[in-house]
Amino acid sequence: MTTKFETHEHDVLIIGAGGAGLRAAIEALGQGASVGVVCKSLLGKAHTVMAEGGIAAAMANVDRADDWRTHFRDTMRGGKFLNHWRMAQLHAQEAPDRIRELEQWGALFDRTADGLILQRAFGGHTYKRLCHVGDRTGLEMIRTLQDRGVSLGIDVYMEFAVTRLLKDGDRVAGAFGYWREQGRFVVFKAKSVVLATGGLGKIYKVTSNSWEYTADGMALAYDAGAELKDMEFVQFHPTGMVWPPGVQGILVTEAVRGEGGILRNKAGERFMEKYDPKRMELSTRDVVARAIYTEVREGRGSEHGGAFLDISHKPAEYVKKKLPSMYHQFLELADVDITKGPMEVGPTCHYMMGGVRVDPETAAATVPGLFAAGEVAAGLHGANRLGGNSLSDLLVFGRRAGLAAAQCAKKISQPSIDSAQIEGAEQEMLAPFQNVSGESPFQIHRDLEDTMQKLVGIFRNEEDLRRALNELEKLKARVKRAQVQGSRLFNPGWHLAQDLKSMLTISEAVTRSALARRESRGAHSRIDYPSLDTVWGQQNNIISSQGGSMALRQELVPTLPKELQKILSEEK
Ligand code: FUM
Repeated sequence: MTTKFETHEHDVLIIGAGGAGLRAAIEALGQGASVGVVCKSLLGKAHTVMAEGGIAAAMANVDRADDWRTHFRDTMRGGKFLNHWRMAQLHAQEAPDRIRELEQWGALFDRTADGLILQRAFGGHTYKRLCHVGDRTGLEMIRTLQDRGVSLGIDVYMEFAVTRLLKDGDRVAGAFGYWREQGRFVVFKAKSVVLATGGLGKIYKVTSNSWEYTADGMALAYDAGAELKDMEFVQFHPTGMVWPPGVQGILVTEAVRGEGGILRNKAGERFMEKYDPKRMELSTRDVVARAIYTEVREGRGSEHGGAFLDISHKPAEYVKKKLPSMYHQFLELADVDITKGPMEVGPTCHYMMGGVRVDPETAAATVPGLFAAGEVAAGLHGANRLGGNSLSDLLVFGRRAGLAAAQCAKKISQPSIDSAQIEGAEQEMLAPFQNVSGESPFQIHRDLEDTMQKLVGIFRNEEDLRRALNELEKLKARVKRAQVQGSRLFNPGWHLAQDLKSMLTISEAVTRSALARRESRGAHSRIDYPSLDTVWGQQNNIISSQGGSMALRQELVPTLPKELQKILSEEK
């Protein structure tokens, strides 16, 4: 293949530089692979930092009774048993080693009195299990992985967006994309590609995700022929900021509740007593998010449509030490001193449990040459993720993806990519400049966010989901006609026109899967099917592209081996 475009070759190309991408890069480098890491934003700016409260791992530093079996059971119960058991097992077994490794690479954790890594409580975890650095754990993790990766010699392509995966026959063999600043096109050739692009928050109006999270990886995989799994399971974190409007959705870490924060409605009632009297504020996220939403809907919400989260009963010094970011965030953004009074909070789209279907051992997608790890991949969390399990997921499966991608690259020679694919990718990118009478991509994005927020949000029903599918078809037609002004030099409207295609594909996948699942389970609540269903409880939804249309089928959840079944049935 010769091409007029700037071209780079790597054994392993990693798309995304959050925790999973960086951990994959470190492992692939360790295998002797040449590694390129592409990130849409600046290195270090990743949604990983939004997992503030900690990394879940059964280290048993604080609660000596903890072990991987209990972590496995909590994860499966939290995920309402739709999780892939093998992923949950590997995750629980390997997380402690990944933490120790991170520590050896320089991560500075908070400590117990006897010098061990300190662990705190989080929703759905039986024991105090979250290793943390105040409320800046994700940030410390990214800092550590970034230092390690850069010192080992990863090539980083920053402010770069991938728009297509390129193939050699059936294999994924590279990627096409552009420098966001100059708009110049680039071709990557690679023997294997790891997707680590994170989630889809920007399809919703209220989200903790920043502008980068436009479902790119899931759409790239789907377009390349890979299967997606359990796309109906979108996590709404119970506590985002609700006021002032400019900061709506910004995360308020679960660590506030882990450290003893109490939720109240406008009448001062501790309403979690009604929804989960046993676990109260430390119930799982799906339950707490629905509880807050219900309180607001039934007229018991705060002035700005949320609930009150109060930690001011703890000594001010304790709050500032344990939750320094929350203290500053509320003081600076909302003029609230959380050591003196409550925060106003409400649900915010935070995380995607569904995503690219992967093999548990290798993180391989269902298309050869393609791997996926972290939020972009499905399987570990089932119907609902426990807080803190995302950071350990990134480490465990980022490592496995990097290892397998590098081993796969050793076995094949540099692939070839036909020029027609590259020209097709170029034409697709240039199309919005040729539209003369279309509308702005920004308006289309706002309408997408409204549609998903109103019709495919925390509570769903058949009528709304059908309406959403209709609206999505209209939005797709509008995107085709969307008009972009100006040149390719840093042009946010043009970037958004590309991102909208991914967001619409994946919004359709979420909506179709939500419509199909006629039950309520974990983060998926159907008001027309409010109960768990035994048949659906055995089935994962699988999405794939068939002849240009989106196809959905069900597959039986893999059967657990006897010894793991026994662990699940033990009561704790
Ligand atoms: O609330 C939090 O600190 C978020 C953690 C997570 O999503 O795992």
